[in-house]
Amino acid sequence: MQNSNALITGASSGIGLVFAKELAKEGYTVTCVARNEEKLRRLVDDLGGSHRLIRADLTDKDDLAAVSQEIHDTRYSLLINNAGYGIYEKFENIPIEKIHNLIQLNINALVQLSHVFLNTASAGAALINVSSVLSLLPFPGGAVYSGTKAFVTNFTEALWYECKDKEIYVMALLPGVTDTDFHQVALGKTRTKETNRPSYPPEVVVKEAIRALKKRTQPTVISGPLYKFLAILTPRILSRARMVKIMGANSPGMD
Ligand SMILES: NC(=O)c1ccc[n+]([C@@H]2O[C@H](COP(=O)([O-])OP(=O)(O)OC[C@H]3O[C@@H](n4cnc5c(N)ncnc54)[C@H](OP(=O)(O)O)[C@@H]3O)[C@@H](O)[C@H]2O)c1
Repeated sequence: MQNSNALITGASSGIGLVFAKELAKEGYTVTCVARNEEKLRRLVDDLGGSHRLIRADLTDKDDLAAVSQEIHDTRYSLLINNAGYGIYEKFENIPIEKIHNLIQLNINALVQLSHVFLNTASAGAALINVSSVLSLLPFPGGAVYSGTKAFVTNFTEALWYECKDKEIYVMALLPGVTDTDFHQVALGKTRTKETNRPSYPPEVVVKEAIRALKKRTQPTVISGPLYKFLAILTPRILSRARMVKIMGANSPGMD
């Protein structure tokens, strides 16, 4: 992995931040993208070297165009579409503009950046789209979020097949519950309900992803041993009706 460059969206915290640190250790020059410039500055200063930051809100048309242009011009060897968030709330209670914003980031921005990347990528390049284990499950109280991630998983697995003969590796990364700011963001600032599900540190997610990136074989990487087990087992032993009832009964968005 020498002389490689990576652009990581959502690098100011959580999984994206750990990706930036670990890829820098692997010899990548990283470009870190997010809205919080202060956090990005701290990260890039810690990393030292020629790592860079781009402050961008990927739901903003002009910012998204600027990041697309950057990907086009720089010809990165790795793009990680990691920026994303959830809303844990019943569907009809969420204002429609908030739903559009979520879809704009989790789907539209990811599709646009994937498109520009794959049109400029050459053999040896790789694209990682961060989805979620929830993409495999119906999730009452997080219906739009799990729906966006179902799109990301299906879209990305299909790209894996389309790109493999060009030697461009595409990975759908499906983390299980991970210890990041994600849950606080999804619950909203005023709600504090614990999700009380087993969770893994973001380092576990990133380690598994980098291992798979080196092998370049699997279209789908589910991270966290428990969630890997559940994702494989539950569809085999439970009906869809049973699954949606269990997910609904345990959802923090159904209070
Ligand atoms: N944590 C989990 O349990 C879990 C499980 C499965 C999948 N995931 C997925 O993992 C990915 C990373 O989430 P995380 O867990 O690391 O959560 P996180 O700590 O909240 O990180 C989310 C990142 O996305 C960035 N972001 C949010 N809105 C943005 C926007 N409009 N434009 C640009 N950047 C934006 C945030 O930075 P700024 O606020 O600075 O913009 C932050 O860097 C997400 O796609 C999430 O859906 C998480």
